[in-house]
Amino acid sequence: MNINGKPTRTIWLADDGWSVAVIDQTRLPYVFEVAYLRTVADAARAIKTMQVRGAPLIGVTAAYGMALAMRSDPTDVAMRAAVDLLAAQRPTAVNLRWALEQMRDALISVALKDRGVVAYAEAAEIAEADVENCRRIGRHGLEILRQLAAQKSKSGPLHILTHCNAGWLACVDWGTATSPIYAAYDAGLDLHVWVDETRPRNQGAALTAFELGHHGVPHTIIVDNAGGHLMQQGEVDVCIVGADRVTANGDVCNKIGTYLKALAARDNSVPFYVALPHSTIDWTLADGRLIVIEERSPSEVLAMSGRLPDGAIVSVDIAAPGSLAANPAFDVTPARLVTGIITERGVTEPHHLLELYPERARP
Ligand code: MRU
Repeated sequence: MNINGKPTRTIWLADDGWSVAVIDQTRLPYVFEVAYLRTVADAARAIKTMQVRGAPLIGVTAAYGMALAMRSDPTDVAMRAAVDLLAAQRPTAVNLRWALEQMRDALISVALKDRGVVAYAEAAEIAEADVENCRRIGRHGLEILRQLAAQKSKSGPLHILTHCNAGWLACVDWGTATSPIYAAYDAGLDLHVWVDETRPRNQGAALTAFELGHHGVPHTIIVDNAGGHLMQQGEVDVCIVGADRVTANGDVCNKIGTYLKALAARDNSVPFYVALPHSTIDWTLADGRLIVIEERSPSEVLAMSGRLPDGAIVSVDIAAPGSLAANPAFDVTPARLVTGIITERGVTEPHHLLELYPERARP
């Protein structure tokens, strides 16, 4: 997608042909800065510190992290150490584990002398596949948005609510939840997006709004607590969110606060869709109660970062000194609250996810 009119991806190979360049998302929306990853430790740190974030992008960065590891030491010992290091950085998004398994499977029987080259090729393939999957999600989601726009009784744009950043910044390009939005906007559909700010790290206000703005999509940032009210007022026609992990029964783990939006959507008969590539589905877990929820630092709740009028980016305390804070980063929306799951293979009710992936059926 575009930044200042220039097609940009979140991750690419630098001019030297081997370092990995990423947009440093901790600096957005005020500063566009590229970070260069030259070692597997750099890749691990970028994932941990959320220079890169969003389930698909975490996976792709881990894949390139493996390539960096294999470039410097292609042995089995180094490969195992790299997998363990990268897997430990963030616990909830299953794309991380998925990408590392892909890499390990691709490398394990390759001669040591070839492992570096094969690892880069495999990582590039994972990245390209993510772009194509997201593009397809957009195509399938566009049909839903077209239908909803046609059925809409009130005049005015189709109002879409989204949470966190499941946009192209969370992937390599297009995004998951935003891909249908970009496809619909490009197709000329009259639409408007309500962007949940998404405390505590404000991925909605900082990142989703940034990318929608650069594409020209009409949008409005709202506080996380406004969604229910807007739904009661008939100001939300559909919710579309992304996911960090979806279990075999269609339960959806996504950024904290997603569940409350799904409850409000159900109470107000607003369709609630979840968009994700197959790499976000955890077929090993029967339901969402088994997902490890990342617990992040209380400092993210007790302080906020922002820009001062002089341009300096600072963190300011916002809470009563001495109070404790809890910071679970994700929640689980039960499948019963989800109208449909949009994947690269099409749209399905959550309980029928397996029908899109018959190869996953147990014999
Ligand atoms: O903690 P983050 O910013 O990595 O969380 C990201 C989200 O929750 C996204 O909504 C989700 O990963 C979907 S990404 C396409």
